Amino acid sequence: MATRRVGILTAGGDSPGLNATIRGFGKAAIGTYGFEVVGFRDGFRGLAEDRTVRLDKKSLAGILTIGGTILGTSRDKPSKMLVDGEIRDMTAAIHAICKRHGLEGLVCLGGGGTAKNALRLWKSGLNVLTLPKTIDNDVAGTDATFGFATALEIATEAIDRLHSTAHSHHRVIVAEVMGHRAGWLALGAGLAGGADVILIPEIPYKVQSIAAAIKERVRKGSGFSIVAVAEGARSVEDARAFNTAEARLARAKDPVARETIRVEIAQLELQHQGNTLRLAQQLELLTGLESRVSILGYVQRGGTPSGADRLLATRLGTAAADFVAQGTYGIMVAAQGDGVAAVPLADVAGRRNTIPVDHPWIVAARHTSTCLGD
Ligand code: F6P
Repeated sequence: MATRRVGILTAGGDSPGLNATIRGFGKAAIGTYGFEVVGFRDGFRGLAEDRTVRLDKKSLAGILTIGGTILGTSRDKPSKMLVDGEIRDMTAAIHAICKRHGLEGLVCLGGGGTAKNALRLWKSGLNVLTLPKTIDNDVAGTDATFGFATALEIATEAIDRLHSTAHSHHRVIVAEVMGHRAGWLALGAGLAGGADVILIPEIPYKVQSIAAAIKERVRKGSGFSIVAVAEGARSVEDARAFNTAEARLARAKDPVARETIRVEIAQLELQHQGNTLRLAQQLELLTGLESRVSILGYVQRGGTPSGADRLLATRLGTAAADFVAQGTYGIMVAAQGDGVAAVPLADVAGRRNTIPVDHPWIVAARHTSTCLGD
């Protein structure tokens, strides 16, 4: 009987737990089901360019604890790839490459963007399944994404460390946390690290309310404050401008009008850059306390995965091998409760898991007198 073959790639931003997932999938696919596993380098770009690496028991050994991805990654999209200076749809080329390798299917480790790309490939007739990766925890249809637990530990430790220096200098320290358009990482690390103010995209903030909370702390004898701000958090005014533009884009049908609104949104995003620095300056003016900024940035994405992420990655990766062996595609392998579920890609792509305003973490933040900026 011919050996069954499957491909695997990692796409989008890297995150801790990718290698643990590759290992879990590879070990089960090869060891339990007798598959050959072909790794593609650098996400969908390496797939379109047919750059492969054979994954076997030897290459899968020793990668459980390693950060990043042994396959490399990129944010390239199969349907719109820059090739020889022009944007091309590489879907047909990808089909041909998968066929040439005799692949039954393709396993894609990635976040929301990867789910969209995978859905397009699935609709074009390719057997695809995805696994939810991102430090942002914003993938719809799954209780958890691998990478988040590790980033949460890193951001929490950073906020812990900022306390002693903020306290010593009687300063406000504004710590910017990643998370794209979701506040999970900032809220989680802010709560776990005991931040005094937590600002997330789901709750637009008023600078005056934040300054009032900081001044109230001073009045009660705490001359310093830690502000955990999600990179996507916006003031009430900025959020209004952004939401209006997005709503117009959702309604617009004419391609020229859509392009104009897209440019407007890109400009709003550009203006948002440096927001954390501006916020710190505003708080210094309003509170009279010296203010400083710490942008946590890519340290949150690097390094060895936590125990929780290794477990999640191994659970989902091995379950993905079960689905591949059964021939179940067009799905994301999701964590649901203690188990694993096959969620249709159509229910994942284009959706984002943001924090409901009545989420227990938000309730807990309010109960601990944390200012959420509203
Ligand atoms: O999705 C993970 C993430 O780190 C986000 O938190 C952040 O907004 C984004 O990726 C940064 O992307 P890049 O590394 O491509 O600039």
